[in-house]
Amino acid sequence: MEKMLAVKIWRGEEDGEFVTYQVPSRENQTVLDVVTEIQRQVDPTLAYRFSCRVGVCGSCAMTVNGKPRWTCRSHVKNVVKNNTIVLEPLRNMPRIKDLVVDMTEFFDKWKKAGGEFIGTRTRHDSLRWWILPAKPENRRMRRSNASTARCVMRLVM
Ligand code: FES
Repeated sequence: MEKMLAVKIWRGEEDGEFVTYQVPSRENQTVLDVVTEIQRQVDPTLAYRFSCRVGVCGSCAMTVNGKPRWTCRSHVKNVVKNNTIVLEPLRNMPRIKDLVVDMTEFFDKWKKAGGEFIGTRTRHDSLRWWILPAKPENRRMRRSNASTARCVMRLVM
């Protein structure tokens, strides 16, 4: 018989309640995998956010068993307690619905701090190629750039 995992998820707004779902427990699954499975297989009205799925953008952040975590980087086996995971929206921002919070204040502060990219080139400028020398210390930067590129691709598509 398939081993199941209990997932308690906050549903609704400020006055919502926890609803418990049962999903198959697998050897390698992240908390985001579990939420996605519930949304796609059990309840399509479940609201949550994600973008890159590789720990770059932070959009998948939720409160997992009482702690804020990036759910795409959180493996179930590292956070599960008594075969149960409790998921709530982040506690420091207003709730919109289910696991989604209002990030307006965050982005306002981000903009005030100058955390935005302001490009100077246009589509009419020629491409610039940037190749890192094949040194071990450049490997991490290459991986990071590849992840960022995937994240941007998801946002654009
Ligand atoms: Fe988790 Fe981007 S979806 S950090």
